[in-house]
Amino acid sequence: MVCLGNICRSPLAEGILKSKIDSNNVYVDSAGTGHWHIGKKPDPRSIEVAKKHQLDITDQRARQFSKQDFDDFDYIFVMDNSNKKDILSIARNDSDKEKIHLILNEIFPNENMDVPDPYYGGSEGFQNVYRMLDLSCDSIANRL
Ligand code: 4NP
Repeated sequence: MVCLGNICRSPLAEGILKSKIDSNNVYVDSAGTGHWHIGKKPDPRSIEVAKKHQLDITDQRARQFSKQDFDDFDYIFVMDNSNKKDILSIARNDSDKEKIHLILNEIFPNENMDVPDPYYGGSEGFQNVYRMLDLSCDSIANRL
């Protein structure tokens, strides 16, 4: 699960998908394209909306996406088109590129929509993001 800062959207996506899969069979992680928040906990507003839905994401720490992730993961879900562009720019080959998917295409196929960045807004934005990611992760978990 990839976003820009790895403190708002992708930590929620990681927590939500983990709650829907068998961790013995599927490994889920998240990362940011940016470096600003490396080592930080998720944003308090993400922690709060997760808690409202009985998910604890406080153990997560932000890290930056790296080329190694193309080798370590089968699927890379990005939150928006800007994340997609950034990750595509470091893809080494077609196999890397084929792993990248816009997460909202799970629920709005081929629409290439962005999960809105909630960083500069209020808590309603985080609830909205939660809802979109929950539905998208249902679809991913059903397929895995
Ligand atoms: P995220 O949100 O990409 O969902 O983690 C953001 C977090 C931090 C910043 C931007 C977006 N920032 O500019 O620091």
